[in-house]
Amino acid sequence: MRVRLDHVTHVYAGSDESASVQVLDDVTLDIASGTFAVLMGASGSGKSTLLNLVGAVDRPTRGRIFLGEHETSSLDEQALTMLRRVSIGYVFQFFNLIPTLNVFENIAFPLSLARVPRGDVEKRVQEVLHRIGLPERASHFPNELSGGEMQRVAIGRAIVHRPPLLLADEPTGNLDSRNGEIVLDLLKTIHDQDRPTIVLATHSERAAARGDTIIHIADGRVSR
Ligand SMILES: Nc1ncnc2c1ncn2[C@@H]1O[C@H](COP(=O)(O)OP(=O)(O)OP(=O)(O)O)[C@@H](O)[C@H]1O
Ligand SMILES: [Mg+2]
Repeated sequence: MRVRLDHVTHVYAGSDESASVQVLDDVTLDIASGTFAVLMGASGSGKSTLLNLVGAVDRPTRGRIFLGEHETSSLDEQALTMLRRVSIGYVFQFFNLIPTLNVFENIAFPLSLARVPRGDVEKRVQEVLHRIGLPERASHFPNELSGGEMQRVAIGRAIVHRPPLLLADEPTGNLDSRNGEIVLDLLKTIHDQDRPTIVLATHSERAAARGDTIIHIADGRVSR
């Protein structure tokens, strides 16, 4: 899925006590379908903000955003919800697994939202469990897993509905280097096999080396 930003500016509105914060300043960006793009920038530079705009979690203050044929910045909430369910997988720094659901149920969650038939759910989740290397952990709960395993489950949940766009916000930020490598290898394998567009935000040079292209973000601007 091609991702385009057309003159996007983003400002977090202030309140009586706080000043407004301008994070993106007239950003224009075109990421071709199937690219593994790495977003690099210092803490506070706006990486998460940009991912949230691309993932249609937040709307830009000004400018337009396109995912494939859709101009997401002009869609209503219902259309955005549908688009997110079908087209986007999101991996977070802090995994965000649902603690009361086991591994199988966590991975299956996006399929239940997309109303995939029960028989297909079983098959797809088993396939994902093998891809993430955790086929024997299906009935374990998140608190019974290591951080690296939790992140692999979170990646499983993000790919189970086969989204054409995968967003990852510092997915190795809370892992040691060995588990970080395992997670990066997994993302790379997913990219090689399924060819989704990936946008991965990171501080890490090692993570950045896995991408096809690096997008630097600083002072509200992006450069390649
Ligand atoms: N809801 C908000 N309201 C006001 N300011 C915000 C809000 N969210 C983020 N910011 C500010 O916007 C700027 C960019 O934040 P963002 O989280 O996008 O940075 P980041 O590059 O992801 O940083 P990190 O590497 O630490 O995760 C920061 O100055 C932050 O304080
Ligand atoms: Mg961030």
